[in-house]
Amino acid sequence: MEKFIRGLPKAELHLHIEGTLEPELMFKLAERNQIKLPFESVAAVKKAYNFQNLQSFLDIYYQGTQVLQQEQDFYDLTWAYLQKAVSQNVRHVEVFFDPQSHTERGISFNTVHTGIYRALQDARSELGLSSQLILCFLRHLSAEQAMATLVEALPYKDTIVAVGLDSSELGNPPSKFKVVFDRARAENFLTVAHAGEEGPPEYIWEALKLLNVSRIDHGVRSIEDADLLDYLIERQIPLTICPLSNVKLKVFDSMEQHNLKKLLNLGLCVTVNSDDPAYFGGYIAENYQAATDALKLSQQELYQLAKNSFRASFLTPEAQDASIAELDSFMRR
Ligand code: ADE
Ligand code: ZN
Repeated sequence: MEKFIRGLPKAELHLHIEGTLEPELMFKLAERNQIKLPFESVAAVKKAYNFQNLQSFLDIYYQGTQVLQQEQDFYDLTWAYLQKAVSQNVRHVEVFFDPQSHTERGISFNTVHTGIYRALQDARSELGLSSQLILCFLRHLSAEQAMATLVEALPYKDTIVAVGLDSSELGNPPSKFKVVFDRARAENFLTVAHAGEEGPPEYIWEALKLLNVSRIDHGVRSIEDADLLDYLIERQIPLTICPLSNVKLKVFDSMEQHNLKKLLNLGLCVTVNSDDPAYFGGYIAENYQAATDALKLSQQELYQLAKNSFRASFLTPEAQDASIAELDSFMRR
């Protein structure tokens, strides 16, 4: 099963590039940029990764981003992740980045974007990995700050496929960002949003109805609303689910309690993703594996998850078909 999971051609659709900062790279960048970390060692960092909820994770996650200062830092971070993804047969990745967590510290949007984007281009030519970039607004900040970030991103429009919404969910509903998302769609960005991770099903409805999202990130609390489930099934609106993240942040008490398999078998277009792999104990293959072990997923169910990942992606229909043909040929072998 382990070999099957690693070999399965797949797309990753929910991956925060800042969440791929491994402690070893954190120390290396801290030294490069002469920053004093509040940790003595890699082991001490790992010990601090013991979260009670989303906010307790975010506090540490934003602290970690402070070592990212120069374009080369963003390049090195992204390149390390892309190599890892290719080693697990990720064929396409849609990468989230949080410009506000850097511009707030005085790092320019251009520095962040150029470093990340250059690594994505190198991975395309050197590793054969296709990718797209999604700009996320930090929902704990104001709608005005999100709008300013959107305007700052306009010159880079051709390199950013969509905008999204992340950070502290409770108390920051999608409705807060309606005007920003209206403008983003008018500028031809697609839209996605984290919703129903910790927040209630109403937040998922708002993301769908007010922000016109193409996908819901997480969305596991959709299980509490039968009408919402019908809506998601009928329209095949994808959920980008992150099993290890949900267990680490105590959205579920254990992997055995996770509703991934239930949602899949109800006919929702669910996908498996890694969210912040450096913080949650694994990349995409480890997420597929942990869900498989706990929920006893069959090869057919894993095939469906991988197929959904291409169908849920922002690849063209032709490129999706080509990836699914590759997946089918993997299954025959
Ligand atoms: N930022 C990084 N990971 C996140 C998550 N799981 N939820 C909300 N914001 C995030
Ligand atoms: Zn996320």
